[in-house]
Amino acid sequence: MQFKNNSLTQMFDLKLPLIQAGMVWVSGGKLAAASAKSGILGIIGAGSMKLDILKEQILKAQKLSGESHSHRLALNVPLLYPGSKEQIDLALSLGIKIFFTSAGSPKLYTTYLKDKGAKVVHVTSTPELALKCEGAGVDAVVIEGFEAGGHNGKDELTTLVLLPQVVDAVKIPVIAAGGFYDGRGILAALSLGAQGVQMGTRFVATKESRAHPNFKEAIINAGPTSTMLMMKKIVPVRLFKNTFYEEIKKLEDDCADSSKLLLKLGKGRAERGMHLGDLIEGEIEIGQIAGAVKNIPTVSDLVAQIRSEMLAKLAELNLFFTP
Ligand SMILES: Cc1cc2nc3c(=O)[nH]c(=O)nc-3n(C[C@H](O)[C@H](O)[C@H](O)COP(=O)(O)O)c2cc1C
Repeated sequence: MQFKNNSLTQMFDLKLPLIQAGMVWVSGGKLAAASAKSGILGIIGAGSMKLDILKEQILKAQKLSGESHSHRLALNVPLLYPGSKEQIDLALSLGIKIFFTSAGSPKLYTTYLKDKGAKVVHVTSTPELALKCEGAGVDAVVIEGFEAGGHNGKDELTTLVLLPQVVDAVKIPVIAAGGFYDGRGILAALSLGAQGVQMGTRFVATKESRAHPNFKEAIINAGPTSTMLMMKKIVPVRLFKNTFYEEIKKLEDDCADSSKLLLKLGKGRAERGMHLGDLIEGEIEIGQIAGAVKNIPTVSDLVAQIRSEMLAKLAELNLFFTP
């Protein structure tokens, strides 16, 4: 059975209204290609990548996904790093036509990218900012609730509260992110007016992700209260509760200023945790939904599972009755 197309599935030729998130240290070419081949959007996370690595990962994704699926490959570019323009230009030169920009102003590169014929989606965390994205000319917005893994908005709006307000505020397609891991969640988001869902944490724990095996294990062993949003004084981020988290918590409880937090964070903390697998002193970014993730499937099995959950839930809801 085929799901009906909506504005988002049409825009990116998706078989399901599902997007595999671009994640620093996690979303490489192999993961994005597996997603594109499974009929969902596969995003390479450029955040941690120097230009030579980025080139290698894009070429790998294109090769693995093949000509008939590579149009479903996208690039996530967090705009807070100095080399984002070079990353964008490299990706454009390699034929990438879909860009998810985040952590910066949507005005920065939207016109530039649209002039080159690319589609642009910007990630945001409040209805006001979503309106600014629309004003900047993006094709769609990702709205990310407080539950989400990775860097986060300061205002703690949950996905359930944020989503309907953004849907009512803007005319462009809205993609919901933060707290989704299965087919039921996608249907809930569609009911609230989203045109699709972006999942991050769920895709960290897949066979194809670049996350260190220890990081994947940490997710499947996590419980519902294993994460907390921290470091609001610098860049808010949802952290796995480990020794590094405890150290940050102590500093925050003692009202440490941002310079002390930055000193503790140091350089390479995220690489140490998510790429090198140091579960004690590394920075491990995961979403609240980690508590519900209990296996490490292939992307293809995961997408098939989500699809059948959507169909089962639709049948179970049986919303019509004869008066
Ligand atoms: C390990 C990790 C790294 C992430 N890195 C990025 C990133 O580099 N750029 C970005 O825009 N979002 C990043 N995110 C956020 C995701 O793109 C996605 O929106 C979020 O994970 C959705 O929430 P969920 O984790 O509850 O599924 C990251 C999330 C995780 C879990």
